[in-house]
Amino acid sequence: MTTKITVPAVRERKHKGPKLAMLTAYDATMARLLDDGGADMLLVGDSLGMVVQGQPSTLAVTVDEMAYHSRMVARVTRRAQVVVDMPFMSFQVSSEKALECAGKLVKEGNAEAVKLEGGVHVADTVRRIVTAGIPVVGHVGLTPQSIHAFGGFRVQGKGEDAAARVLQDAKAVEQAGAYAIVLEAMPADLARRITDTVDVPTIGIGAGPHCDGQVLVCYDFLGMFRDIQPKFVKRYAELGDAIVTATRQYVAEVQSGAFPEPRHSFGMAQPRSIGEPTGAKPLVEGAAPQYGPADES
Ligand code: KIV
Repeated sequence: MTTKITVPAVRERKHKGPKLAMLTAYDATMARLLDDGGADMLLVGDSLGMVVQGQPSTLAVTVDEMAYHSRMVARVTRRAQVVVDMPFMSFQVSSEKALECAGKLVKEGNAEAVKLEGGVHVADTVRRIVTAGIPVVGHVGLTPQSIHAFGGFRVQGKGEDAAARVLQDAKAVEQAGAYAIVLEAMPADLARRITDTVDVPTIGIGAGPHCDGQVLVCYDFLGMFRDIQPKFVKRYAELGDAIVTATRQYVAEVQSGAFPEPRHSFGMAQPRSIGEPTGAKPLVEGAAPQYGPADES
C-alpha cells in the first residue's frame, strides 16, 4: 500500500531529510511516471501557460485551466503530494476572492495544497486560506507573475537591501502559516540564509544547493525544450531529441508502408464472437476493462 505524502510529512523532512524532490506535472500520463519515479511533490504549475499553452508568460492562465490540469494529475497520483498554483489575479484582488479560488482548486481540481507567489504583501491572504484548512506553499524571490515589474525573468535579492527584502518575504509567509516555501532565482547564499532562518522546508529552483528540496519543470529536466536551457536546469534525459527522432522514423515508415505490420492489425470477427480486446487499458484502475465493440454478433 502506497502512503501519500502529507503536509506533516513534508514539514518533517526539513529536520529529518531526505531533501524534497518536487517536479511539475500537467497531465495524467506524466504525473503517473513522475509519481512512479518517486517525486515527493507534484506541482501543477502555472508554468503550464508557457510549456503547455505556448504563451510567453504565465499571466493568462485561469483558475478553470488550473483546476482542469490539477484534476488530471490528482486522478492518477498515488504517493506524491499534489500542489496547485494559484494563477495571476486569482489571489491579488482580495483575501475573500483568493479563498474562493483556492477552494475551487481543492473542490474541482482535487488539489491537496495551493501555492501562491509573493511575500509581505500576500501574508494576510495566506493566513486566510490556511485558516480555512487549505495548506499553502509560499513562493518568493523571482515570482514570474511579476515579470513586467521585474523587467524580465531576473535573479532577485543580489544586493544587501534586495536580499533583506526577500528574507522578509519568506518570514512573512512562514508566519502566515505556509508549510513550505519555493525560493526561485536568487543567490545560493541568500537561499541558505532563508533556509537557516525559517522553520519550514525551502524548495529551490535556481537557488543553489542549500535548500531543503529542489523543484524543476518536468519538460526542462527531461530535455524537451531544446532551444533554451536556463543555467539552473539540469537535463536528466534528452526526450526532445528522442521524440523528434521517433517522429522522423514513424513518418518514414508510414510513407514507405513499413508500418503497420501484420502484428499491429486485427483479423475479422468469427461468427458470434465478441470484440477482440485492442490491448489498450484505462489509466485508472476500476474503469471499463477494455475498449471496442461489446458484441459484434
Ligand atoms: O509554475 C511553476 O512551474 C513554478 C515553479 C517553477 C516553481 O512555480
